[in-house]
Amino acid sequence: MEKLEVIGVKKLKGNIKISGSKNSSLPILAATLLSDKKVHIINLPKVKDIETMILLLRSLGSKVKFNKKKKLINIDNSKNIKTFASYSLVKTMRAGILVLGPLLARFWKAKVSLPGGCAIGARPVDIHLKALSKLGVKYKIKNGYIHANAPKGLIGNIIKFSKISVGATENLIIASSLAKGKTILKNCAIEPEIKDLINCLRKMGCNIKWSGKRTITIIGVKKLLDVKYKVMFDRIEAGTYMIASALTGGNMKITNIVPKIINTEINILKKIGVKVIAKENTIRVFGTKKIKSIKLKTSPYPGFPTDLQAQLMVLLCKADGRSEISEEIFENRFMHAPELNRMGAKIRISGNRAIIEGNINFKAAELMATDLRASVSLILAALTTKGKSVLNRIYHLDRGYEYIERKLRKVGARIKRTS
Ligand code: UD1
Repeated sequence: MEKLEVIGVKKLKGNIKISGSKNSSLPILAATLLSDKKVHIINLPKVKDIETMILLLRSLGSKVKFNKKKKLINIDNSKNIKTFASYSLVKTMRAGILVLGPLLARFWKAKVSLPGGCAIGARPVDIHLKALSKLGVKYKIKNGYIHANAPKGLIGNIIKFSKISVGATENLIIASSLAKGKTILKNCAIEPEIKDLINCLRKMGCNIKWSGKRTITIIGVKKLLDVKYKVMFDRIEAGTYMIASALTGGNMKITNIVPKIINTEINILKKIGVKVIAKENTIRVFGTKKIKSIKLKTSPYPGFPTDLQAQLMVLLCKADGRSEISEEIFENRFMHAPELNRMGAKIRISGNRAIIEGNINFKAAELMATDLRASVSLILAALTTKGKSVLNRIYHLDRGYEYIERKLRKVGARIKRTS
């Protein structure tokens, strides 16, 4: 099994170009199932989750062609699309549930595996299913599969989500795009990736507009158009490298981004003493010797993202006092804390709160990744140690970080993949 070896204590300096967003690409790829027209997508990141989504599309009958040089893929879903999404693909990536909405919208039926829980929490799909039933979908769960059909096709309705959910908002936007009449979605997630999905769907000919801060109005359309769409930058990857620069006392320029989309993250870093200079499409982050402690919680956008919680925790281990993070999105997202404690951190977990003592010097160790963001937090900690750390189970990391060793080596890190 592959591992990553990291030898630390180097200031990271230079430029890092941010890849396309994984979390934006996944719903956009699923949404292509709505269309019998030509779809071209640019800027997909080369990460495992995208490969899995493409395998899932191919298993459904999509014809997918790559133009690697241009980072462009062509998708043709015009004929022979099946409506069965198997356990073997959906189990490895929860975003597989996003094919449910488009299949029901276009074919009025679907059999999709339940994604199941994962390391960070139970992650049910009840909100997706309840909302789809309001569009006329009947479903039952049998042997781990959602058997769903809409006898009269999808019919627009007013839906208020009981809780803000990124995935449920995406599934319903996609499904409502072909539903008969008007759908109003209330209490929607407003993550930038949702705006990116809407922009892509609009280019495909869908009629979607924001009619309030968390309200989206969709008028179903009958025909779609050919589309060429470039996905947005990966804001979590950007935040991860910003923290890497701050943590190693570095001086890194992060390019290919839109800083105003990550204002919350920039402001938190500034608040704890990191020097950040944002320009139109770049950010320069300078490390500082003195990090201030902070108390914060994760929350849906525009709050601080749960997907950056583990990385920020590593930085707070270097603060001048005790910090506290409340994890408000997932019930079990502190799996990195015991591993960081093995490296010398002093983190105590109490319910959904992590209490983090500062002024820590991490020590190199053999480490084990438990999920995507936890993995990268361990690499960040390893970058500050004197010795050699070895990270096992890096398949988690490969799900979401494009060319991570190559990018880190370019800014001076000593990191290599071994098997
Ligand atoms: C997406 C992101 C993930 C991010 C998360 C929160 C993708 C592919 N993944 O995941 O990286 O960490 O948003 O920003 O974009 N919930 C229910 N029932 C449901 C749906 C969700 O109880 O039907 C709960 C979840 O368990 C969780 C919370 O709602 O506690 C938020 O989850 P959600 O926003 O749906 O996350 P994902 O879309 O799975």
